[in-house]
Amino acid sequence: MNKAILLDCDTGIDDALAILDFTARGGELVAVGSVHGNVPAPVGARNTLRVLEIAGVEGVPVCVGAARPLAQPLLTAEHVHGQDGLGNTNQPAPKLAAAPGSAAEQIVRMAHAHPGEFTLVAIGPLTNLALALLLDPELPRLIPEVYVMGGAVEVPGNVSPTAEANIWHDPEAAQLVIEGDWAVTLVTLDATMQALLTPSDLKAISGASSVRAQFASAILDHYLDVYQQWIPGRTCPLHDPLALALVLDPDLATYRTLATQVELRGGTTRGTTVCDLRGDPASAAQEPAPGWRNVRYLDELDVERFRALFVAGVTSP
Ligand code: BDR
Ligand code: CA
Repeated sequence: MNKAILLDCDTGIDDALAILDFTARGGELVAVGSVHGNVPAPVGARNTLRVLEIAGVEGVPVCVGAARPLAQPLLTAEHVHGQDGLGNTNQPAPKLAAAPGSAAEQIVRMAHAHPGEFTLVAIGPLTNLALALLLDPELPRLIPEVYVMGGAVEVPGNVSPTAEANIWHDPEAAQLVIEGDWAVTLVTLDATMQALLTPSDLKAISGASSVRAQFASAILDHYLDVYQQWIPGRTCPLHDPLALALVLDPDLATYRTLATQVELRGGTTRGTTVCDLRGDPASAAQEPAPGWRNVRYLDELDVERFRALFVAGVTSP
């Protein structure tokens, strides 16, 4: 498993927290692509460049990615992440501009330049990954492992009764990625909705003096306000930070494999990750039926250890 990653993101408050934590704990970013989702793709790229600046990370190219999903109109989520995507914190423009070329082209180029040397991690809608697969169907030979924050198996969705945002924002792209001949891990709401910050975590982050911690605390303020409508008390889930933390430390969880496909035709269920839960353990080892793919999911998550690592990461100097 490669701990160096090419990150695809729609930065976004929890995307920003994920980047701050991952880089603080020594995670290596080979490149970043932005995608529509929480905010339009150019805004996501600008936010990512600003977050990398705050994290003190230099020399990582950030390419702008897909402006809209493959087969449905663009919908963004400023009502969750703020008009600027960073909790309305009015950040200055980043010093650096986005790198030339598209995020999908960058995935293909980097995969050929560094075959087998990085893990692809998506914490936004999967449009760039799907486009990269369409540009080069050989991609899974060069990138053996893909981690995605997305989906909901046995818990409700967060944008519809059954669908999670990153899958729902581009279901066709998600199905293409799941069908790819690479090993896919989906970090779903089943796990991320357990990964909630506690009052003492929040106190530790707001009390820390580093630039990284102060920025984390400022963007969290907005996220906590928004999450009050869904979760009682002052807390929020760490969706995207969990996906990146698992790349650094896969032993934070145990795993199970389920045959999966994305619902593309349903009205109210479009964008749902449908998993075969009928529970024959032998079936996990078999090739699933056409249209279905074996996907790895978290089973048990060590929430305490994940939270402790996250707090240590974002409060570090
Ligand atoms: C996912 O959707 C986005 O709002 C978050 O950044 C995260 O990637 C959670 O469903
Ligand atoms: Ca995201």
